Amino acid sequence: MRRYLVAGNWKMNLGPAAGLELAAGVAARLRGRVLRGDALVCPPYVTIPAVAAAADGNPLLLGAQNCGDQDGGAFTGEVSPAMLKEAGVQYVIIAHSERRQYQREDDDLFVRKINLLHACGLKAIFCYGELLGERKAGREREIVNAQLEGVLPRLQYVDPYNTVLAYEPVWAIGTGETASPAQAQEMHAWSRQVVARLLGESPASHMRILYGGSCKASNAHELFSQPDVDGGLIGGASLKVDDFVGIIDGAEAALG
Ligand code: 13P
Repeated sequence: MRRYLVAGNWKMNLGPAAGLELAAGVAARLRGRVLRGDALVCPPYVTIPAVAAAADGNPLLLGAQNCGDQDGGAFTGEVSPAMLKEAGVQYVIIAHSERRQYQREDDDLFVRKINLLHACGLKAIFCYGELLGERKAGREREIVNAQLEGVLPRLQYVDPYNTVLAYEPVWAIGTGETASPAQAQEMHAWSRQVVARLLGESPASHMRILYGGSCKASNAHELFSQPDVDGGLIGGASLKVDDFVGIIDGAEAALG
């Protein structure tokens, strides 16, 4: 019912030359294949045009890792959703834990960014997830509830096709420690319950919820086979052709 999404978050890696090489490598491996889901790469801003050229004509979608919260004007260093759209971007990652932590981004900012990018016809990938200490204290459901509640009901145009959720337990990001399939399924099912309460049963059943945190080719199949896990947001393993394509293969295999 829900198409899977395998999204690569390249973070602050790969300038235009290296990004083109990776995207061209992935595109070559996908060429001629009809995927039963979506494959997306989210390079740094400056690498987007090079990747757009490589992705053209392939089943590889293009995303960004961030956007500004204004239409345009005197906002030094910012990039508007409309500019990203013009560059070929379809998805924008919002509220990644690294931006929550290092840039101190908060719910008000997430709401402004998502409303703006939705108004431009772009799709948001909204990230959330608990810290290690919060999990150890048994507070993961409460934290996830608060993070979803702080943003979803305030979105003007939210629907299951312009918004993707990405559950990324912070203790699993870049640590090599992956949530077990059972832990992921439990939190995804809980997230879906929260979305049902906030937005309604039908949006909740159609909205994709990705898992992120040390996802790799060797665990993708099992994670994505869980009924409420609709793909992944991939960091480190999205930086190598074989690893990323292996994860896409895992998503295809999970469909049976
Ligand atoms: P890793 O896959 O490197 O753990 O990163 C996950 C992530 O933060 C994706 O957004």
